[in-house]
Amino acid sequence: MTTFVRNQWYVAAYGHEIGRELFGRTILGESIVFYRAESGEVVALADRCVHRRFPLSESRLDGDTIVCGYHGFTYDRAGTCVFVPGQKRIPRTARVKAYDVVEQDSFVWVWIGDGPPEVSPPRAPWLADPAYTTVCGMEPLAARYELLVDNLLDLSHETYLHGGYIGTPEVAETPITTEVDEDAGVIYVSRRMADAACPPFYAKSTGIEGRITRWQDIEYHPPCLYLLHSRIAPAGVLPREDGTDPDGFHVEVVYAITPETEHSTHDFWAVARDFALEDQGVSDFLAENNRTVVLQDVVALNVLEQVIATEPAGYQELSINIDTGGLAARRILKRMAAT
Ligand code: FES
Repeated sequence: MTTFVRNQWYVAAYGHEIGRELFGRTILGESIVFYRAESGEVVALADRCVHRRFPLSESRLDGDTIVCGYHGFTYDRAGTCVFVPGQKRIPRTARVKAYDVVEQDSFVWVWIGDGPPEVSPPRAPWLADPAYTTVCGMEPLAARYELLVDNLLDLSHETYLHGGYIGTPEVAETPITTEVDEDAGVIYVSRRMADAACPPFYAKSTGIEGRITRWQDIEYHPPCLYLLHSRIAPAGVLPREDGTDPDGFHVEVVYAITPETEHSTHDFWAVARDFALEDQGVSDFLAENNRTVVLQDVVALNVLEQVIATEPAGYQELSINIDTGGLAARRILKRMAAT
């Protein structure tokens, strides 16, 4: 069964998705309407009119107020109803929930909880850093978010599911190290390949010919933010003793895993690189290639969701070393859901 973790920040959208058009998106089963106020700030309100539940996202923006498209109840950016048709008195309960929003690192984060935010959203600074060039997208996933968490924390599947794109034999062959910061609730999974084949994803984008040293350092901030620090260099080339790394190519792969419903997920993905910053050909290649990889995962996880949803409960999975990070994530998500 899916376990939603409430009282957390979730990525609702990219900043570029939200403008002066009303924009509806469901997060953890809550229908929310977003728009950008005239000041530029993002507003998020419950997407159901208090009168007869007409979606406000199907309504009209008038200045900073939303005029319901059914009978005209009008809401300000705090969710307070400021006009009802046919009478002067506005019922005291005529308001919709207003959500706390933070826009940072090109993401719009929304707080899904019962009270005010207790913490700040985690960071993915590369996405808005001029020292990096980023390509990004979002694919709808018809599967519970836990399947995407499992998928991203065990990259050995790259060898089998993403061969010809990002997978090579060395990914599955190389053991991982896993660390869990219990206090911060962050999971780290590293796989460092000293001498590996260079998959097309990196060969074509970096121009490296021949074998590579390839590091994959995962940092998962449950429930929503997943970071993969990827370092590629010609085989044997390591960072310098002073910590600088001019001969390495760095790619920050960022996922935001946002449950839509118990059985569907918004799969946000972004790839930020610190090389070939102005090269549109590299951007186009990485965007197309990474989207293909994400869609390969989507197809596999959609199948898995159908299997899980239609078969009786009680199936006993078998876990091995590669699952250490995924199992830690399950444990922490369960703990977070219970608090
Ligand atoms: Fe919105 Fe009637 S449903 S005004």
